[in-house]
Amino acid sequence: MLSHDAPLLSGDALRERFLALDTFLLAQQSLWREKPFIQQKLNWEAEYPELAVWLRARSLADAEACHANPYALSAPQPFADWAQRAQQLSTLGSFPDTLLSQRPLRMQSGIAERKWQQIEAFASAVHSGAGQSLAATNNWLDWCAGKGHLGRYLAWPNAHLECLEFNSELINSGQAISHKYLAHAQHRLCDVMSAESAAPLQQAGAVIALHACGDLHTHLLRQVNAQQAAAVALAPCCYNRTQSEFYQPLSAQGQASALRLNRDDLGLPLTATVTATNRERRLRDQSMAWRLAFDILQRELRGVDEYLPTPSLSAAWFNKSFAQWCADLAKLKGLPSVPVQNWIDLQARGWQRLAEVRNLELLRALFRRPLELWLVLDQAIFLHEQGFRVELGEFCASELTPRNLLLLACRV
Ligand SMILES: C[S@@+](CC[C@H](N)C(=O)[O-])C[C@H]1O[C@@H](n2cnc3c(N)ncnc32)[C@H](O)[C@@H]1O
Repeated sequence: MLSHDAPLLSGDALRERFLALDTFLLAQQSLWREKPFIQQKLNWEAEYPELAVWLRARSLADAEACHANPYALSAPQPFADWAQRAQQLSTLGSFPDTLLSQRPLRMQSGIAERKWQQIEAFASAVHSGAGQSLAATNNWLDWCAGKGHLGRYLAWPNAHLECLEFNSELINSGQAISHKYLAHAQHRLCDVMSAESAAPLQQAGAVIALHACGDLHTHLLRQVNAQQAAAVALAPCCYNRTQSEFYQPLSAQGQASALRLNRDDLGLPLTATVTATNRERRLRDQSMAWRLAFDILQRELRGVDEYLPTPSLSAAWFNKSFAQWCADLAKLKGLPSVPVQNWIDLQARGWQRLAEVRNLELLRALFRRPLELWLVLDQAIFLHEQGFRVELGEFCASELTPRNLLLLACRV
């Protein structure tokens, strides 16, 4: 659901919200840093036993039912207090709808419906409010463009478009599509992390980036400043795809925070799976239940009561019997050979652990959006500090994509 009642964040509200989130996340870090998947017992359980017992008693289906909206869970206190605060701090307005002229129907061909709707919503937001001056450009730069669908949508019918992308197949097919709709479109092979992206940033009237991952979007924002780019519209994603071990805050306020976020922490906002299909969910559940069962087994085999990371495994691995899968994984990890087990019982314990893990994770889930907003606010404040007029809000419903935050910034 999009909220048209709450305001977009801009000006001083950016800093105020950041500070409130910073205080909340720091105060509650013992809750959201704990990982039920790798820790059999969580430290906060001793402090909140009633909540822990209640969560552990629920089924996998119970957990699934409120995965997307953990705030609504009527769990023992202080869960509801935390949920209310997290929700309050995550509330954000959405960009008003703008009626844009209809693009040619064929332009949508080959684009998944959900992606097309994201593009429409992004373009609509870019044309609203502060974005209007950004949208007036005749010169768009699509950063990490893929096939450049978003850039083409915005540049149609007469504007110039430059797309930067480092996958040559995407460039070739993007260029072929652009030829059909635009007179001035250039899809360029370019590693945006290299110095080659500097000149396009200087020349562009507006830079757009839909779902540029981790370093690709933080680098963009630093470069928007360094190259004196005029305006940017960014919907960030995959905050954990970064070379550095810890998040490097961009804004002075972010740098002053005591919050240190490692790559694992940066993955927390991405743990919502609203867009997975039923088949994907079933496979994911099986993989996790088996890994949790293996975790019980490996602790016994090694005589060490500690989680042992396992690598990602191809789908073919899950065509094996559970017993064979355990034996092969033990071999892969260099463990002693697995003695005969009651495999049915071990597998059932894995599924039981999965139900507990998923329910305990509902507590972490309360912090997904606050943490994401903290990150994007750091980026918004950075641009504000550099003299941009900034607006932050949601550009589409989370059902369309959970990465629905949009940062619009125009140099004043
Ligand atoms: C998540 S996709 C988003 C694509 C497009 N903006 C969209 O929304 O459909 C990220 C894109 O970034 C590209 N990419 C990744 N690293 C890059 C780099 N260093 N330089 C240029 N493009 C890169 C990938 O090939 C991919 O097409």
